This record gives sequence, structure tokens and C-alpha cells, in this order.
Amino acid sequence: MTTQTLRALKGRRPIVCVTAYDTPTAHGADAAGVDLILVGDSVGNNVLGFANTVPVTLDMIVHHAAAVARAKPEALLVADLPFGDAHLKPGDVVKSCRRLVQEGGMEAVKIEGGVALAPQIERLVLAGIPVMGHIGLQPQQVNVLGGYRKFGQRVSEADALRADVAALENAGVFAIVAEMVDPRLAAELSRLARVPIIGIGSGPDCDGQILVAHDILGINERAPSFAKAYASLAETMRAAFTAYANDVRSRVFPAAPAKPVPAPQVE
Ligand code: KIV
Repeated sequence: MTTQTLRALKGRRPIVCVTAYDTPTAHGADAAGVDLILVGDSVGNNVLGFANTVPVTLDMIVHHAAAVARAKPEALLVADLPFGDAHLKPGDVVKSCRRLVQEGGMEAVKIEGGVALAPQIERLVLAGIPVMGHIGLQPQQVNVLGGYRKFGQRVSEADALRADVAALENAGVFAIVAEMVDPRLAAELSRLARVPIIGIGSGPDCDGQILVAHDILGINERAPSFAKAYASLAETMRAAFTAYANDVRSRVFPAAPAKPVPAPQVE
């Protein structure tokens, strides 16, 4: 999958996107034929024990991106530009994104923000780094917002989101994530935009969907209300560790060798 083939899926079939932060998860997602794997900064709250994505650094994303890239997936590989980096001078934003591509093995970057970040995005595309936009709820803004909420229900906010899509398209993005956008507005944006709109918590009428792998797999104790768990790995993991611990304590594991091992010969 390339940014161009992904873009060409718009209007043909829904685009399937998922996060991954390590090699085995990337293998699993790729075997299922997903179109895009995102090394999201949600690695912070899903894997690294942080409360949100704000503490995640560029070094952390590069580390996880490289692990995902080692799976050599067919899916398009995209990594998040972490908190703060998109607001550097355009030349410095290029430097950060170069690390995601050259050290992390990514094919594109995702940047939270709309109109205000169009100059940085234009510069990246000129430098040969494809960019995916991210509008609506931008989790890196959690400390300004005071929490997570839906976007686009007020007229002024809906207009701002329409302007974000236009600015991002003009800056050259190949797709846009729309997070927790009012479903009717997300449907309208998907109809009007030239690039695919990938929804998360934004209803069924987007060009594609993205979910966090840990929510799909049921690893998280608490998942957002819009997510759907297709497995219960937290329970499976607890049961496996409990069975192992019981076996070790009762000397069931490791099993005794089938035949007695002859005592070593003394010379
Ligand atoms: O970091 C992330 O997981 C995201 C979502 C859109 C899936 O940005």
C-alpha cells in the first residue's frame, strides 16, 4: 500500500486502519490485510503506562516505529509526530519527521492540527514526507481541553472543521483522521473532501475507520465507548499467567523427563 493507492480507495471501499506498537501486533494486523498501520502516540497510554499521549517523546515513537517496520508489513506505515514537535519551526519539523522515516522506517507521518499547521505540512510534503492530518478531538490538547469530548456539534466548530479539511487538503495531506467528530458532519466532510476521511468515534459514514489495537483485542480494562472489542486478551492473559504460576508452584511445570536421565559417569 502506498499513499497513492490508499487515496485511490476513497469511494471504492472502506479503508481499514489500526494502531500497532510492536512487531507481533504488526504481523497480526498485516496478516488480516489491514490497509494502514499507525504507530500512534497512544503507545503512551496503551503500553507505557502514561495517563495520556502528552509525555510521549520522539525517541519513544522512533523506537516503537522501528519495531513495527521490522515486521515488513504490506500495509502503509504511518507514525504520529508526538506532542509539541509539529509546532517547531517548519525546518525543525522536517528534522523530527526525517527521524520517523529514516530511523523508524515509516512511510508517512500523522500530525494533529488543522489550519494553523498547514505551513509546516506543506513544507514536509515538499521535503518528500507524506502527511496524514488529524482533526476533531486532538488528544495532544488534553491539558487545554481538560478532557476528551465530541467536536463539531456547534455551528462555529463545524465551520472550523470544514476550514481545517480545506487547509489540510491544500497543504497536500493524503488522508485525514477525524476523531470524535459529530457523525453527520463527518459524513459531510467525507463526501466533500478529495482525500479519505478516516473516522474514529465519528460514525459509520467516513471513508475508513481506525481503532487502537489494544481496544480491538480487549487488552484494555477500560476502552472508549465507540470502540469494539473482538477478543478478550486481558482475560486470556490473566488465565494463562495463573495456570503457569499454579503449575510452577505445584511442580507440574516443567514436566519430569520421560526416561530417567543416566547419572554422569565419573572417570
Ligand atoms: O495515536 C492514536 O492511536 C491515534 C488514533 C487516531 C488511533 O491517533
